[in-house]
Amino acid sequence: MGARVINAKYAPYRLEIRRSRIHRLGVFARQRIPHGRKVIEYEGERVTTQEAQRRGNPNLNYMFAFAKNVIIDGSRGGTGAQYINHSCAPNLRARKVFGHMLFFSARAIQKGEELTLDYKYRGVKKDDYPCACGAPRCRGTLVEDRRDTRGRRAPRQSTA
Ligand SMILES: C[S@@+](CC[C@H](N)C(=O)[O-])C[C@H]1O[C@@H](n2cnc3c(N)ncnc32)[C@H](O)[C@@H]1O
Ligand SMILES: [Zn+2]
Repeated sequence: MGARVINAKYAPYRLEIRRSRIHRLGVFARQRIPHGRKVIEYEGERVTTQEAQRRGNPNLNYMFAFAKNVIIDGSRGGTGAQYINHSCAPNLRARKVFGHMLFFSARAIQKGEELTLDYKYRGVKKDDYPCACGAPRCRGTLVEDRRDTRGRRAPRQSTA
């Protein structure tokens, strides 16, 4: 799972990894982050879907889908972003920029808030991945909301 620290080279704001109410460890803001800013890059070893399947652990998944047959394994050479938990009301949004997988603030994030992303798991059963995000409108699963799948799909965690 890699070092349990944030690599500041990939994160312009002060962040920390600590215990989360959502699941085990999570990433938290140590300062206020305005809306629309780059918060952290997701990096790690880039592997094929087949290799990601071989390495993967469905119960503790550090794989992020980058492109067709390119999965980023955050457990090897990760930046700390691999500790970001899922929320159905996330405060981050993933965007690919010139070959980099970047997480931007989807709104202003207060000091002390946990950073979260919608994992949008695909190709697996909803009931196998229950969500514990605690958001008032939690959809109950880490699997993508089908209402989001029209048009261009946003980057997502990989269930490989
Ligand atoms: C990328 S890790 C996130 C970091 C993890 N909390 C840790 O301590 O290593 C992804 C795993 O966290 C768990 N997870 C993340 N968000 C969750 C949520 N909202 N509800 C339930 N489990 C969650 C799932 O087990 C998932 O496979
Ligand atoms: Zn939820």
